Amino acid sequence: MTGVDLARPRVIEFPSIGDASTGILTVAALYRDIPFAVRRVFWTYGTPPDVTRGRHAHYRTETVLVAVSGKIIVSTEFPGGELEKFTLDSPARGLYLPPLCWRTMRYTASAVQVTFESEDYSDEDYIRSLDDFRAMRSPSARERC
Ligand code: TYD
Repeated sequence: MTGVDLARPRVIEFPSIGDASTGILTVAALYRDIPFAVRRVFWTYGTPPDVTRGRHAHYRTETVLVAVSGKIIVSTEFPGGELEKFTLDSPARGLYLPPLCWRTMRYTASAVQVTFESEDYSDEDYIRSLDDFRAMRSPSARERC
Protein backbone atom coordinates (compact mmCIF):
# COMPACT_ATOMS: atom_id res chain seq x y z
CA MET A 1 0.00 0.00 0.00
CA THR A 2 0.86 3.65 0.10
CA GLY A 3 1.93 4.50 3.61
CA VAL A 4 -0.91 7.06 3.68
CA ASP A 5 -3.09 6.59 6.77
CA LEU A 6 -6.59 6.45 5.26
CA ALA A 7 -9.68 6.89 7.43
CA ARG A 8 -11.78 3.74 7.60
CA PRO A 9 -15.55 3.23 7.22
CA ARG A 10 -17.28 3.46 10.58
CA VAL A 11 -20.75 3.34 12.03
CA ILE A 12 -22.09 6.53 13.65
CA GLU A 13 -24.74 6.33 16.38
CA PHE A 14 -26.72 9.58 16.31
CA PRO A 15 -28.13 10.95 19.57
CA SER A 16 -31.88 10.34 19.84
CA ILE A 17 -34.52 11.88 22.05
CA GLY A 18 -37.88 10.32 22.92
CA ASP A 19 -39.32 6.82 22.82
CA ALA A 20 -42.05 4.74 21.26
CA SER A 21 -44.74 6.44 23.34
CA THR A 22 -44.04 9.89 21.86
CA GLY A 23 -41.95 9.28 18.76
CA ILE A 24 -38.21 9.77 18.40
CA LEU A 25 -36.11 12.71 17.26
CA THR A 26 -32.60 11.96 15.98
CA VAL A 27 -29.92 14.66 15.61
CA ALA A 28 -26.89 14.86 13.32
CA ALA A 29 -24.66 17.77 14.42
CA LEU A 30 -21.81 19.11 12.31
CA TYR A 31 -18.40 17.73 13.41
CA ARG A 32 -19.86 16.11 16.52
CA ASP A 33 -21.74 13.39 14.59
CA ILE A 34 -20.87 14.06 10.93
CA PRO A 35 -17.10 14.51 10.61
CA PHE A 36 -17.14 16.95 7.67
CA ALA A 37 -18.93 20.10 6.53
CA VAL A 38 -21.95 18.92 4.50
CA ARG A 39 -22.18 20.50 1.03
CA ARG A 40 -24.83 18.23 -0.51
CA VAL A 41 -27.70 16.01 0.65
CA PHE A 42 -29.65 13.59 -1.54
CA TRP A 43 -32.03 10.71 -0.94
CA THR A 44 -32.56 7.43 -2.73
CA TYR A 45 -35.76 5.38 -2.60
CA GLY A 46 -37.82 2.92 -4.60
CA THR A 47 -34.76 0.83 -5.41
CA PRO A 48 -35.85 -2.71 -6.35
CA PRO A 49 -34.33 -5.30 -3.98
CA ASP A 50 -32.49 -7.02 -6.84
CA VAL A 51 -30.67 -3.82 -7.87
CA THR A 52 -27.18 -2.96 -6.62
CA ARG A 53 -26.41 0.76 -6.47
CA GLY A 54 -23.14 2.50 -5.75
CA ARG A 55 -20.35 0.61 -7.52
CA HIS A 56 -18.00 3.54 -7.16
CA ALA A 57 -15.48 5.28 -4.93
CA HIS A 58 -14.61 8.97 -4.70
CA TYR A 59 -11.24 10.65 -4.86
CA ARG A 60 -12.16 13.40 -2.39
CA THR A 61 -15.80 13.18 -1.32
CA GLU A 62 -16.61 11.97 2.19
CA THR A 63 -20.04 10.42 2.71
CA VAL A 64 -22.45 9.54 5.50
CA LEU A 65 -25.31 7.16 4.62
CA VAL A 66 -28.46 6.80 6.75
CA ALA A 67 -31.35 4.36 6.24
CA VAL A 68 -34.15 6.59 7.51
CA SER A 69 -36.55 3.78 6.56
CA GLY A 70 -36.08 0.10 5.73
CA LYS A 71 -32.75 -1.68 5.53
CA ILE A 72 -29.61 -1.11 3.47
CA ILE A 73 -26.69 -3.52 3.17
CA VAL A 74 -23.50 -1.64 2.36
CA SER A 75 -20.43 -3.53 1.19
CA THR A 76 -17.11 -1.70 1.12
CA GLU A 77 -13.66 -2.36 -0.27
CA PHE A 78 -10.56 -0.43 0.66
CA PRO A 79 -7.51 0.17 -1.55
CA GLY A 80 -5.61 -2.38 0.53
CA GLY A 81 -8.24 -4.98 -0.39
CA GLU A 82 -10.04 -4.98 2.99
CA LEU A 83 -13.71 -5.95 2.61
CA GLU A 84 -16.44 -5.01 5.10
CA LYS A 85 -20.22 -5.31 5.23
CA PHE A 86 -22.56 -3.03 7.20
CA THR A 87 -26.28 -3.28 7.88
CA LEU A 88 -28.14 0.02 8.21
CA ASP A 89 -31.58 -0.67 9.67
CA SER A 90 -32.09 2.20 12.11
CA PRO A 91 -32.75 5.90 11.45
CA ALA A 92 -30.49 6.56 14.44
CA ARG A 93 -27.42 5.02 12.78
CA GLY A 94 -25.20 6.28 9.97
CA LEU A 95 -22.21 4.93 8.08
CA TYR A 96 -19.19 7.13 7.37
CA LEU A 97 -17.43 6.34 4.11
CA PRO A 98 -14.07 8.06 3.56
CA PRO A 99 -12.54 8.90 0.18
CA LEU A 100 -11.07 5.96 -1.75
CA CYS A 101 -13.68 3.54 -0.40
CA TRP A 102 -15.47 1.40 -2.98
CA ARG A 103 -19.13 0.89 -2.01
CA THR A 104 -22.13 -1.10 -3.19
CA MET A 105 -25.60 -0.90 -1.67
CA ARG A 106 -28.63 -3.24 -1.68
CA TYR A 107 -32.03 -2.11 -0.40
CA THR A 108 -35.24 -3.51 0.98
CA ALA A 109 -38.33 -2.27 -0.87
CA SER A 110 -39.20 0.30 1.81
CA ALA A 111 -35.65 1.61 2.18
CA VAL A 112 -35.04 5.35 2.01
CA GLN A 113 -31.37 6.31 2.05
CA VAL A 114 -30.34 9.85 2.94
CA THR A 115 -26.79 10.70 1.90
CA PHE A 116 -24.68 13.59 3.23
CA GLU A 117 -21.60 14.49 1.20
CA SER A 118 -18.66 16.82 1.70
CA GLU A 119 -18.34 18.08 -1.90
CA ASP A 120 -20.44 19.51 -4.71
CA TYR A 121 -21.38 16.97 -7.36
CA SER A 122 -18.57 16.34 -9.82
CA ASP A 123 -18.39 13.45 -12.23
CA GLU A 124 -14.59 13.79 -12.10
CA ASP A 125 -14.58 12.85 -8.43
CA TYR A 126 -15.97 9.38 -9.22
CA ILE A 127 -13.95 6.20 -9.71
CA ARG A 128 -16.48 4.00 -11.49
CA SER A 129 -14.22 1.17 -12.61
CA LEU A 130 -13.39 -1.46 -10.01
CA ASP A 131 -10.27 -2.31 -12.02
CA ASP A 132 -9.12 1.33 -11.84
CA PHE A 133 -9.88 1.40 -8.13
CA ARG A 134 -7.88 -1.75 -7.49
CA ALA A 135 -5.01 -0.39 -9.56
CA MET A 136 -4.73 2.41 -7.01
CA ARG A 137 -3.04 -0.03 -4.65
CA SER A 138 0.17 0.85 -6.41
CA PRO A 139 1.92 3.88 -4.82
CA SER A 140 2.53 5.45 -8.25
CA ALA A 141 -1.20 5.38 -8.97
CA ARG A 142 -1.93 7.00 -5.59
CA GLU A 143 0.48 9.85 -6.31
CA ARG A 144 -1.50 10.77 -9.45
CA CYS A 145 -4.70 11.42 -7.44
P1 TYD B 1 -24.65 7.76 -8.13
O1 TYD B 1 -23.82 8.61 -7.23
O2 TYD B 1 -23.93 6.77 -8.97
O3 TYD B 1 -25.79 7.03 -7.29
P2 TYD B 1 -25.73 5.65 -6.44
O4 TYD B 1 -24.45 5.65 -5.68
O5 TYD B 1 -26.96 5.71 -5.61
O6 TYD B 1 -25.79 4.50 -7.40
O7 TYD B 1 -25.52 8.74 -9.05
C1 TYD B 1 -26.50 8.23 -9.93
C2 TYD B 1 -26.68 9.22 -11.07
O8 TYD B 1 -27.14 10.48 -10.57
C3 TYD B 1 -25.39 9.50 -11.84
O9 TYD B 1 -25.71 9.63 -13.22
C4 TYD B 1 -24.94 10.83 -11.32
C5 TYD B 1 -26.23 11.51 -10.93
N1 TYD B 1 -26.07 12.43 -9.79
C6 TYD B 1 -26.18 13.80 -9.96
O10 TYD B 1 -26.39 14.30 -11.07
N2 TYD B 1 -26.02 14.64 -8.88
C7 TYD B 1 -25.79 14.17 -7.64
O11 TYD B 1 -25.65 14.97 -6.66
C8 TYD B 1 -25.68 12.74 -7.47
C9 TYD B 1 -25.41 12.15 -6.13
C10 TYD B 1 -25.82 11.92 -8.57
